[in-house]
Amino acid sequence: MDKIKNIKGTKDIFGDDSYIWQYVEYAIHNFIQKYGYTEIRTPKFENSALFKRTIGNDTDIVSKEMYSWTDQGNNSLTLKPEVTASVVRAYIQHNLGKKNITNKLYYIDSLFRRERPQKGRYRQFEQFGIEAIGSKYPEQDSEVISLAYNFYKNLNIKNLSLKINNIGSRETRLKYKKELLNYLKPFSNKLTKTSQNRLKTNPLRILDTKIDFEIDIIKNCPKIIDFISKKDLDNFNKVLDFLQKSNIKYEIDHLLVRGLDYYSRTVFEIHTDVLGAQSALCGGGRYDYLIEELGGSPTPAVGFAAGIERLILALKLDHNKIIKRPDIYMITAGSQAVKFSIPIANDLRLKTGKIVINDMHRRSLKSQLKEANKFNAKYVIIIGSDEIEKGEVLIKDMKSGEQKNIEVKKIDAFFK
Ligand code: HAM
Repeated sequence: MDKIKNIKGTKDIFGDDSYIWQYVEYAIHNFIQKYGYTEIRTPKFENSALFKRTIGNDTDIVSKEMYSWTDQGNNSLTLKPEVTASVVRAYIQHNLGKKNITNKLYYIDSLFRRERPQKGRYRQFEQFGIEAIGSKYPEQDSEVISLAYNFYKNLNIKNLSLKINNIGSRETRLKYKKELLNYLKPFSNKLTKTSQNRLKTNPLRILDTKIDFEIDIIKNCPKIIDFISKKDLDNFNKVLDFLQKSNIKYEIDHLLVRGLDYYSRTVFEIHTDVLGAQSALCGGGRYDYLIEELGGSPTPAVGFAAGIERLILALKLDHNKIIKRPDIYMITAGSQAVKFSIPIANDLRLKTGKIVINDMHRRSLKSQLKEANKFNAKYVIIIGSDEIEKGEVLIKDMKSGEQKNIEVKKIDAFFK
C-alpha cells in the first residue's frame, strides 16, 4: 500500500529540533513581554471575507495562495494566511479599544499560504508578531521596529539590515499611483505579464519586482516619499530620529511597498544575508485605516510579523545548551525492581524536578545501560534484588564513573 506522506511545504518537528523550537518560542514570549505586550490567540480559520477585505483581492495571497473551502453549512472559510486581520477582527469584536487606550498584543501562530515551497518558504509556517493598536505617534512606530530589531540582535543574528519607507496616506497613494502609471506606461510592453496586469490592478506592487530588467525600469521612477504630506514626513523623520538614537541602523528603501494592501505610512522589513533568496526575517508597518475598514472606529495601529522557520535557519545555537538530556535513567533487573523503581522515579520528578526515564521493555541490564548512554543520561540508578533487600539503590555518575549506594529515603537529598 502507498504510504501517506505529509503535504508539500509542511513539516514534522521532533527530536532535537523540538528543543530548538521550544527555546525559540520561550525567547519570543520572554522578549516581547518585556515591552508590555500580552498574548492573543485567534482561531486557525476565519470567514474568507475577512482576508479578502483586509489583505486585498489583487494581492498574491488572496488571488492565488489561500486555502479556502465551503463547509457543510455553505460558509466560505479560509485557513489563516496571516494574523493581523484576525487580531483586528478580535479587537473590534471584543471592544478592546474601550478597555485600553493602546492594546499591545502579540502572537505565535501557524499560517497557511499555497506558495512555491523552497528554503525559507513553506505552505504551513509559523510566525510571531506584535500589533500595537491605538497610538498614531512616531514613538509607537519606533517601539515596534526596535522591538523586532533588538530581538534579532539579542539572539546574535548577524548582518541585519533594516529597510524602511513611508507610503503615506490613502490620498498620497492615489496621487502617487497616477504618477507611477504615467512613468510606467511608456515601458508597458516591456514589462512581464504579471506586471502588465498589476498596471491595471495594483501598480505599486510592480515596485516589488525581483526581475532584473524591471528593476532597471523602476530605478528612476518617482518616489512615493516625495508625495507624502508635511505631517507624515515630519512624523517619519521623528521615527528615523528615534531609531538613530537607539543605535539602530536603517536604510530608506523607496521601493519597499509590502505585499498586503492594508498598509499606510511607515513600512519596514528586516533582512539578513544568511538566508539566501528568502532573506526577509520580518515585515510590518502601520495600518491606520484597517480598523475603520472592518467596521471599528478609526484607530491608528502598527505591527510586524516574523517567520520562525527563517529565524531558526539564521540562528547559530549551541545545541548542547538547548537540548535537554535525561538527568537519570533507572536501570532495573527483573519485575520486582521495576515495581520498586517506579515510586522512586515519581518522587524524584516531583521533589527534585529531574528528568527521569524508566525502561519499559524489561530488557537486560546491558541494553538499558546502552540506552542510558545513547540518551546521554547524567546518572543511572541501578536496582537489583540486593538493592531491594537493603532498601537502597546504586547511583552511577556517567561522566566520572563514580558509584555510590544510597538509602532510598536519601535519594532526593542526593539530587537536590
Ligand atoms: P508578511 O510579510 O506576509 O507580513 O510575513 C511576515 C514574515 O513571515 C515574512 O517576513 C517571513 O519571515 C514570514 N513568511 C511569510 N510567508 C512565509 C512562508 N510562506 N514561509 C515561511 N515564512 C514566511 C505579514 O504577515 C503581516 N501580517 C505582518 C504585519 C503584522 N504587519 C502588520 N502587523
